[in-house]
Amino acid sequence: MEIEMTTRIARSQSALHRLLDEIETGACPKPDWIHLQGDCRLDQMQPDARKHLLARLHACVLRGFRASNARPKSRAKRLAYWRAVAQAGFHDFTEQGWMKNYDSPFVENYDYVGPYLEGGLRALDAYQAYSSVLGTHDFSVEDFINTDLCRDVQTIVEPMAGTAEFAYQGHFRYPQFRYVMFDLDPDAKKHVEAKPWLPDTERHYVVADVLDEAIWQQVKSLTTGMSLCYIGKQSHHFFGAKQLYRLMELATSHVDYFMLEVPEPSLVADLEDEDELTREEMEDAGFQIGLTDKKGFSTNPLTNSLHFQLEAWDKRDRRTLFEYGDWTSWPHHTLVAFAELLDLKSMYFHGDKTEFVPVSEGEHDGDILENVTFMVFTRHH
Ligand SMILES: C[S@@+](CC[C@H](N)C(=O)[O-])C[C@H]1O[C@@H](n2cnc3c(N)ncnc32)[C@H](O)[C@@H]1O
Repeated sequence: MEIEMTTRIARSQSALHRLLDEIETGACPKPDWIHLQGDCRLDQMQPDARKHLLARLHACVLRGFRASNARPKSRAKRLAYWRAVAQAGFHDFTEQGWMKNYDSPFVENYDYVGPYLEGGLRALDAYQAYSSVLGTHDFSVEDFINTDLCRDVQTIVEPMAGTAEFAYQGHFRYPQFRYVMFDLDPDAKKHVEAKPWLPDTERHYVVADVLDEAIWQQVKSLTTGMSLCYIGKQSHHFFGAKQLYRLMELATSHVDYFMLEVPEPSLVADLEDEDELTREEMEDAGFQIGLTDKKGFSTNPLTNSLHFQLEAWDKRDRRTLFEYGDWTSWPHHTLVAFAELLDLKSMYFHGDKTEFVPVSEGEHDGDILENVTFMVFTRHH
């Protein structure tokens, strides 16, 4: 089901101030978005006045604001503008606009560029840089909960969670749900636990191996209501065939809906050696980021095996942020074949219908054939 959103428009600074006054006094409910148009330009304001206005905006919107009227002229001005908005608690890591977490009271600092400007590539926070280019921002818990299939879900499980954006962002929208995250990386746990969480939400971040049955039993004991488990960024490609089969078996025995973010249908042989992910503010600051092939290894089109890394580089230096060695790009039909062996139902997330549909319907559907990025497996038939 599509999510309905409210947008208010401000075409001048005085109209914006009037709208914010109305929201602050309770005369008008907080809209999801405020759209700044015409002369209502944030890029032309003095820094102090802008900071004050951004703080008011943050408290007055549920999701964020759009300001396609801002067009700073020089590289330096563009970077200063981007950093000012990011420091005021809004990011633009999706196409949707400048976003905060849903109705979040916390002004989070998204300016991951600052440390680079001070100390070069070594000073870059790898987790924050990862989030800006690969974080789970485009689809959220809300998108999947608003489906016929998952509407009774009350527990969100995020294995191989890393920066755990899925669970973290989701808890602002559904603070009454339970959240269970786990990963092998103890630094990722520290990173996620250092974020401001709403105090009343029940959450657990465990250091654990996704192939260990004990963590799944723990997940089950922490679950309330139906559970949706989400592995993002194709992380199941870390595993060989037997491990992946075991993962599907373990997960679907302990959660109701097991979802994987899958690649769009393509051949590994067609992949480029370098997938450049550089964002504009990175370029303005003087560095680039991309997924690059690991030297000495080549892609094997028969086994779908890949070796790559997330790298950052500038004129002086190069740094590996995260390694993805020995990765197998599992085609959808292998996942469906495993699901059949395990007697699971397999479904695709249909982007236009915003519903899960059985894989058998996908064969005749253009949207699914071209755009599939999520599959769900379940023992509920
Ligand atoms: C590409 S990151 C994905 C992070 C996150 N899911 C996302 O969507 O952005 C892969 C994560 O899987 C974790 N990982 C790899 N093997 C694992 C295993 N056997 N058990 C648990 N976590 C694992 C890594 O530590 C890393 O944080």
